[in-house]
Amino acid sequence: MKKPTPVERAAAAIRDGRLVVFPTETVYGLGADALNEAAVRSIFAAKGRPADNPLIIHVADRSAVSRVADSVPPAAERLLDAFSPGPLTLVLRARVDVPRTVTAGLSTVAVRIPRHPVARALLEASERPIAAPSANRSGGPSPTTVEMARRALGEAVTCYLDGGSCEVGVESTVVHVMNGAVTILRPGAVTAEAIRRVLPGAEIATPGGTTALPVRGTAPSPGMRHVHYRPRAAVVLAESPDRVIPAGLERPIALIGLDEDVAVAASRNPGVRDVVVRGAADLDAFARSLYRWFVELDDLGVATILAFMPPESGVGVAVRDRLERASGGRRIS
Ligand code: TXA
Ligand code: MG
Repeated sequence: MKKPTPVERAAAAIRDGRLVVFPTETVYGLGADALNEAAVRSIFAAKGRPADNPLIIHVADRSAVSRVADSVPPAAERLLDAFSPGPLTLVLRARVDVPRTVTAGLSTVAVRIPRHPVARALLEASERPIAAPSANRSGGPSPTTVEMARRALGEAVTCYLDGGSCEVGVESTVVHVMNGAVTILRPGAVTAEAIRRVLPGAEIATPGGTTALPVRGTAPSPGMRHVHYRPRAAVVLAESPDRVIPAGLERPIALIGLDEDVAVAASRNPGVRDVVVRGAADLDAFARSLYRWFVELDDLGVATILAFMPPESGVGVAVRDRLERASGGRRIS
C-alpha cells in the first residue's frame, strides 16, 4: 500500500480527535475537529488558553460556512466574495450544534477560509471544520514557521505540517457582521479601506486603541481582553526615530522597525553599545518578520525591544496593534 502523505496523516489525526499544527497564510494554527468537544478541549489545554476565549473555525469553502454559521448576511457574502479564501475571519451567528467550547458560550462563531495550499489540503482531506487558534502558548507571539510552533508546543502535539514561512505574518482580520453593522474586531492584512471599498454604504467601526474597542451594540472580541503577542523582552514603542535612546532602558536593547527608521535611530545614537538592529524593507516585510524577530531577540537575551511604529496604512495598522499589545502601552515620547 502507498505510504500516506503528511497531509493524509494529519487529516487522519484530525478525524481521530487529535491535534495538528498546520500552516496558514497568516500564522501557524493548532487545529482539531471543531465538532469534537473533547478534541477542542485539548486545544485549550495544549495552549494554556483561558476557556473564555473562543476559537476560529476554519472551513474549506463557502458551502462549509453554513455548516457552522446559522445565517450569512448579505454584507458577509460580499466580504467572502472579495477576500476568501484569505486572511479574513467573519463573526456570524452560530448554529446551535457548534460546541460551546469553541464559541466560549457566545451565540456567535468566527469562521475563516484560509488560502494556504497546505491548510486547504488538510481541510479537504479531513472533511472536517477545523477549530484553530494560533499555535503558540497563550500570550506568546504567534508562530510564522513550523520550528517556532514546535518550540512553543513541543510534545503536547505529535503532528506538525510544514508549509514554510507564513506569507502575511500577522493574524487574520476579524470582522463582526450583524444587522448591516460591520465592526473590525482585530486588524489584519484585509484593511478597513479594502472593506470600505467592498461595502461602500456600510457603517464600519474600526479598532481605536489598545484595549476596549469602541463597538456599538456588540461585545469586543473576547480575546482582546487577554495579554497577547508578548516576547519575554520588554517592548517599548517610539513614534519617531529622531531621538536619543533614553538611558533608563534595560540593556541589551534591540531596535526594530522599517529600515529607514532604524537607520535614522542608529545614526542618532552612535555611542550606544549592545544594540541589535532588525529592519524591514516595507510594511509587508515588517508584518512578516515581527513575531520571528520577537523569538530571535529573546534567544539573543535582549532585555528591551524598542519598536519604531510604522505608518497607519495597509497592514501597518495591524503591526501597530500587535506592537501596542506586546508593549502594554509603554512608550518613549
Ligand atoms: O490568522 C488567524 O486568525 C489565525 C490562523 C491560525 O487562522 N488564528 C488566530 O486564532 O489568530 P486566535 O485564536 O489566536 O485568535 C482568534 C481571535 C481571538 O481574538 C478571539 O477572541 C476572536 O478571534 N474570536 C473568536 N471567536 C469569536 C467570536 N465568536 N466573537 C468575537 N471574537 C471571536
Ligand atoms: Mg492567538
